[in-house]
Amino acid sequence: MFSSPIIPPVRKRSKAAEACVPRHEEVKFEDVRLYLVERKMGRSRRSFLTQLARSKGFVVEDVLSDVVTHVVSEDLHAPSLWKWLKECELKNLPSMHVLHISWFTDSMREGRPVAVESRHLIKETLPEASATPPPPKATVSQYACQRRTTTENNNKTLTDAFEVLADSYELNEMEGPCLAFRRAVSVLKSLPWAVKSLETAQDLPCLGEHSKAVMKEILQYGHSFEVEKTLSDERYQTLKLFTSVFGVGPKTADKWYRRGLRSFSEVLTDSSIQLNRMQQSGFLHYGDISRAVSKAEARALRSIIDEAVHVITPDAVLALTGGFRRGKEFGHDVDFIVTTPEPGEEETLLPKIMNRLTKQGILLFSDYQTSTFEMSKLPCHRFEAMDHFAKCFLILRLEASKVEGGLHLAEGDSRGWRAVRVDLVSPPMERYAFALLGWTGSRQFERDLRRFARMERRMLLDNHALYDKTKKEFLAATTEKDIFAHLGLEYIEPWQRNA
Ligand code: UTP
Ligand code: MN
Repeated sequence: MFSSPIIPPVRKRSKAAEACVPRHEEVKFEDVRLYLVERKMGRSRRSFLTQLARSKGFVVEDVLSDVVTHVVSEDLHAPSLWKWLKECELKNLPSMHVLHISWFTDSMREGRPVAVESRHLIKETLPEASATPPPPKATVSQYACQRRTTTENNNKTLTDAFEVLADSYELNEMEGPCLAFRRAVSVLKSLPWAVKSLETAQDLPCLGEHSKAVMKEILQYGHSFEVEKTLSDERYQTLKLFTSVFGVGPKTADKWYRRGLRSFSEVLTDSSIQLNRMQQSGFLHYGDISRAVSKAEARALRSIIDEAVHVITPDAVLALTGGFRRGKEFGHDVDFIVTTPEPGEEETLLPKIMNRLTKQGILLFSDYQTSTFEMSKLPCHRFEAMDHFAKCFLILRLEASKVEGGLHLAEGDSRGWRAVRVDLVSPPMERYAFALLGWTGSRQFERDLRRFARMERRMLLDNHALYDKTKKEFLAATTEKDIFAHLGLEYIEPWQRNA
């Protein structure tokens, strides 16, 4: 069944991490010999900083001895540090620099040992720490639906790092910290400038202690200890690998991991595992559907669906939604909304479209879910629940000849077609604006629209409707602009919703 070769990208991440830390480091600064004090720093952070410094050509001694020239400590309690140093019975202690970690971070940033200044020294008695001024009022909204976020991200290093931690928390079902990092990512993505120091990030909303600590490390060293650790964690790597398969969620991935499975071939050869239809297709087309879909491919699919829809119902409405509607260059799938003005007719639309795609020989997989939508069951109080419209999750065969500029394939791959994931949803026309707003995303933008509606307006918003709890009534809308207006929000264009 799985005739196409599957080469699982196992441990790809840890290889990348190792690449930054060469095994045989070249010594660039013979005269400087560092010693990192483990106390306060902790063992794993010390070993991370040691590797980092060695990769930059510094000599780091494992043991504190008279050869050491620079002692670096994160312990700011000078009396206890000095007491400990004196107990080490070093002849050269008087000529050693006893330095605050800031000297180390400055040196890592510069890629050379910077001159020791008095601000770096941990003296035997420390001056009183000066009080920090209160932060000025924030000007960036805490809600993504009050920010304009294009596809241009000026803080990619930071957001990539935060996303690793958010994903990791999500895989461990720790919703609180996951959401905190997702919100922080979203705020950073909205900024028209790059965060270069903690001070400039001071007034931003949604940055907690934890995200600031990670940010600080990245701004200082270019790496985050916690992120590197997560990326090289076997459980994280395996769960990311397994959930990258269509039809495999965190629960299944965790189950396989706990059975001791670590690679696709182990999963596929385990006779006790019964893959469902979706997972079978996920593995079968893994190479293709884990590869990004290009804008040109999305346009080609639009023409294909458009033709199918209009053969069925001439007055049907088809709209591209999801990431491509937000102007993204690439996506993991292509999302469409289809509907017709005739009430009830939308219910038969998707099966008819799927039929036609089957006849064309391009439907490789379909999972159709009938509508469970009933206006009488609204408003829905369950936050972030799936919507009730009829929908189908498809894998289509896309011919190269249909795509302007050709398929988005790997270098050297000259196949004439590829598999692509496509989602279709068909709400009743009367619910069109809500469905379009909900399916356009981004996920974080939607979360914040709902949170804003609930917290600031006492309203309930989902993919079906907007309900005013004060007036106890549903608010009608035929366009997205109507919905923003009901919420008292400035209209945000789709390409500004990449939160
Ligand atoms: P996607 O997962 O397709 O994300 O969901 P995307 O923004 O298009 O990004 P890529 O490029 O494909 O990765 C699109 C939107 O549809 C909503 C999601 O919340 C998201 O905002 N959606 C998806 C639903 O409302 N219901 C669903 O059942 C699925
Ligand atoms: Mn999508």
